[in-house]
Amino acid sequence: MKVGIVGVGAVGSTAAYAMVLNGVGNELVLVDYNPKLAIAQAEDIWHATPFSHAVKVRSGDYTELAGAKVVIIAAGVGQKPGESRIELLARNAEVFGSIIPNVLRYAPDAILVIAANPVDVMTNVAKEISGLPAQRVIGSGTILDTARFRTLLGQHLGISPISVHAEVMGEHGDSEVLIWSGAKAGNTNAHKFAEQIGRPLDDEIKATIDTKVRRAAYSIIEGKGSTNFGIGAGLSRIVKAILNNEHAVISLSMVNPEIVGVKNIALSVPRVVGAKGIEATLFPSITKDEESLLKESAESLKAAADAVLS
Ligand code: LAC
Repeated sequence: MKVGIVGVGAVGSTAAYAMVLNGVGNELVLVDYNPKLAIAQAEDIWHATPFSHAVKVRSGDYTELAGAKVVIIAAGVGQKPGESRIELLARNAEVFGSIIPNVLRYAPDAILVIAANPVDVMTNVAKEISGLPAQRVIGSGTILDTARFRTLLGQHLGISPISVHAEVMGEHGDSEVLIWSGAKAGNTNAHKFAEQIGRPLDDEIKATIDTKVRRAAYSIIEGKGSTNFGIGAGLSRIVKAILNNEHAVISLSMVNPEIVGVKNIALSVPRVVGAKGIEATLFPSITKDEESLLKESAESLKAAADAVLS
């Protein structure tokens, strides 16, 4: 199945590379406002296919997106050192104004996967511009923050991050909420497991992990200018769940008519993902403190969304 990637800078190109390595899709079309970049990225990624999967990788303009099942929108400006994701909003909303209509002109049935920041509000913007049902406009949301949480918690507990089940909900950004109450090591409550192995999850450890998750992008951007590997792998995972109709549970952003009492905003909670896009939302039981933090996150997103959508 064909997958389009619009915007093949660090994030978009890494997502394409991750899809080749994981055998996601059998045809990737790379589109960028800089055709030379799209040509070069496509050729470079194509050279990786003999080592992994015979995926057709090419560059093209929007017309080449015809028939795409999924189109990743990774175009837009990224955070500069110290810049928050919300500060990118005005510039990236303008970029979406031209990209989304062009994508839908040639791939009207595609599911859109949004990766531009601030991704939750950009998911809201993409839904408004496209007029598509919310379930077909998926923001990468906290898939990456959840991965960061799982890697750090797994490191503390001495177990594979693949065996850690923990979610980050809310904004993909400064107000995100780590759901400690639901964290598990295998099928065991993470706090109980930590006690059993003599490495209790005390307040100091939890605060350290929280800060590392929340500030990960800032520290990586300080060091290398942008992030791309974690988000690229996350985007590949989302596309795989769609193309394979997995009905997989992944924390993703989507416009909700109402969530924690806030109307018409996109934020991340666990979702069921398959061929139709987001098929269901699973709202796990969380503590009162976690719910009030999630409400604060939703309200901060509402303010940003109203500013750009009004
Ligand atoms: C990050 C970018 C993708 O968190 O927002 O790395």
